[in-house]
Amino acid sequence: MERRRLGKTDMMVSVLGFGGSEIGYERAGARTVARLLGTALDAGLNVVDTAECYEDSEALIGAALGARRSQVYLLTKCGHPRGYGRGDWREASLLSSIERSLKRLRTDRLDLIQLHSCELADLRKGEVITALERARERGWARYIGYSGDGEAARYAIECGRFDTLQTSASIADQEALELTLPLAVERGMGVIAKRPIANAAWRYARKPSEPYYQAYWSRLRALDYPFLRAGAKGAVATALRFTLAAPGVHTAIVGTKRPERWPENARLLDAGPLPAAEIEQIRGRWRKVAQPSWTGEV
Ligand SMILES: NC(=O)c1ccc[n+]([C@@H]2O[C@H](COP(=O)([O-])OP(=O)(O)OC[C@H]3O[C@@H](n4cnc5c(N)ncnc54)[C@H](OP(=O)(O)O)[C@@H]3O)[C@@H](O)[C@H]2O)c1
Repeated sequence: MERRRLGKTDMMVSVLGFGGSEIGYERAGARTVARLLGTALDAGLNVVDTAECYEDSEALIGAALGARRSQVYLLTKCGHPRGYGRGDWREASLLSSIERSLKRLRTDRLDLIQLHSCELADLRKGEVITALERARERGWARYIGYSGDGEAARYAIECGRFDTLQTSASIADQEALELTLPLAVERGMGVIAKRPIANAAWRYARKPSEPYYQAYWSRLRALDYPFLRAGAKGAVATALRFTLAAPGVHTAIVGTKRPERWPENARLLDAGPLPAAEIEQIRGRWRKVAQPSWTGEV
């Protein structure tokens, strides 16, 4: 699998990465996670992303990796130690969350610790960034990053203190392509695309009951890209290749609970880069249809 250097870090990351939220929120079992990581590594992935608040995701990954820890870059997040939406941005809280992540992931050192979508106002105060810098000084993480979108993501690049940005980028979420990615390229930051296939939200015939999928489902209805009618595999392939073609993106972390997805998704990339004309069609449709409220989905 193709590898790209993650900005100015020493990490040569596979273009496909393992997104760890689904296994936590959808309560995958230990055996499933072991198989998932096995098929992911066999398919050539070397990036595993998780977070302190994805239920048991960190512990499941820590247990499943075992001796294969050295074969992957381990990325996690901090800021919601008691569950997503209940942010705690105090320095002591962030540091104790990182220490807990090390234990759960059964590692001495993370490759990357990311602030988990804190607001611009918190970022500006600076204490949250100082906490991550302290964790790096203590040897708990090799690099520090910001995970989030919009103006906060832009500030995270401008302030010059982060090594990486994790942000939403897909056929249904193109704000970052103008607001942050060009600046990230200029500053040599590593970029991790989250929600890179827009949750494959076009799969649902009716509006999904799960709120997390609803915004992309509605956007994709309005965007009505012709390639979405080309069969499931063709659609995922185009979506993924679009995200990976966005200038500045180094890796795209996909979430799944199905072990067979990894060889399947890896094979979708064999077709190579998405041709410029197809990228332009998707960009053109977005420019025509996207509403001002279609900002980066956290
Ligand atoms: N604020 C943040 O920091 C933040 C926010 C959101 C996400 N993230 C990160 O980004 C990762 C990815 O985000 P995500 O899982 O929300 O979005 P995603 O990767 O765009 O979509 C995941 C969905 O795509 C489906 N899928 C995967 N491969 C497929 C294929 N070949 N064909 C059809 N469907 C396929 C999966 O379903 P199946 O289970 O059926 O495969 C899953 O429901 C997360 O795991 C997390 O690590 C971070």
